[in-house]
Amino acid sequence: MRIVLEHLTKKFPNRDKKIHEDVVAVDDFTFEIPDGKLVSLLGPSGCGKSTTLNMICGLEKPTGGKIYFGEDDVTDLPPENRGVGMVFQSYALYPHLTVRGNILFPLQNLKGKDKLSKEEMNRRADEAAKLVQITELMDRKPSEMSGGQQQRVAIARALVRMPKVLLLDEPLSNLDARLRLQTREEIRRIQKETKITTIFVTHDQEEAMSISDMMVVMQAGVLQQIGKPQEIYDDPCNLFVAKFLGTPPINVFEGRVENGWLVIGSDRILHIRGVEDREVYVGIRPEAFVPDEEHGPLVCDLKSVEVMGRDTSVVSTHAGIQGLCVRAIIPSDAIADPNGDGKVRFSLKPKKVHIFDKESEARIPFELA
Ligand SMILES: Nc1ncnc2c1ncn2[C@@H]1O[C@H](COP(=O)(O)OP(=O)(O)OP(=O)(O)O)[C@@H](O)[C@H]1O
Ligand SMILES: [Mg+2]
Repeated sequence: MRIVLEHLTKKFPNRDKKIHEDVVAVDDFTFEIPDGKLVSLLGPSGCGKSTTLNMICGLEKPTGGKIYFGEDDVTDLPPENRGVGMVFQSYALYPHLTVRGNILFPLQNLKGKDKLSKEEMNRRADEAAKLVQITELMDRKPSEMSGGQQQRVAIARALVRMPKVLLLDEPLSNLDARLRLQTREEIRRIQKETKITTIFVTHDQEEAMSISDMMVVMQAGVLQQIGKPQEIYDDPCNLFVAKFLGTPPINVFEGRVENGWLVIGSDRILHIRGVEDREVYVGIRPEAFVPDEEHGPLVCDLKSVEVMGRDTSVVSTHAGIQGLCVRAIIPSDAIADPNGDGKVRFSLKPKKVHIFDKESEARIPFELA
């Protein structure tokens, strides 16, 4: 099911009585979610992810704009008629019901022509349970299961009505690191198997990057960028997106463009063209740094070298850096061996270096000279 949002907006009255302006939780979203894909809504807490999801499933009424499922305008359709399955941020199973009882619950409430026979309901429940691999747990109560198992029951409950759209609001937030990884792979597998159009909400960029066909990055109710995870990582549209994606995060420097050179402090790091002289922010990904003791143009004060197995993390400082330190990730065989002067010199992979306008923080494209 293809989903189209058209100028979708949600305003809430401000709870602070002294402020009369509304809170704009979702500001004029227009984008399309392709059929059969898994799309993440990604952004920090309070950016409007749950509000967007709640409008798509019909629990929240938009202040403005339209929602289409395929060709159909569903904006005013009640939730039960939209054919969506939803797993909430707190996945809330019914504690007094068994796993089977929980999964059957949405089917038992079907009325009229949708009503199912007992055998059919059980068959569907078994099918959903099999998909999330909890078949042997069907007679247990939620309190007798791990968080990950409960999470899977919640997903089975959302799947059992065979929804056209599956909405997941931070479905992994209550799990430990290992279970998170396992469950997110599970969700990906189920989504690929069922080909249900799925919207996955998370504030965890790594989770979004690893699971999605497409990501929607948002901040404070405003859409920032839409695209494939790798595309957004490689070509962030602004400083916020560049900083939000990637661990360790991108290193941000105060810099300037001067006579065709990109300069940080007194270091001329890249010879560029297409940008007039101006002050800029320079974002350098940790993997952009190549130790180059002879010719490396970026000269940093070495602080420490942390060996992390496959890679080595080189921590240094530089007068131009915003924040405490410069963090470079280099392959372990490339040892950062300073000349004994406490300095470490880097060349930079140009594709991993981005510059941003100091006012708007929009990315400024440049070419190498
Ligand atoms: N019922 C409401 N009344 C007033 N303001 C609300 C209401 N619901 C949400 N908001 C505000 O709207 C904004 C977006 O909230 P939303 O719950 O969509 O964020 P979120 O991205 O899901 O955050 P989180 O990651 O913390 O779950 C926030 O500023 C929030 O305080
Ligand atoms: Mg939320």
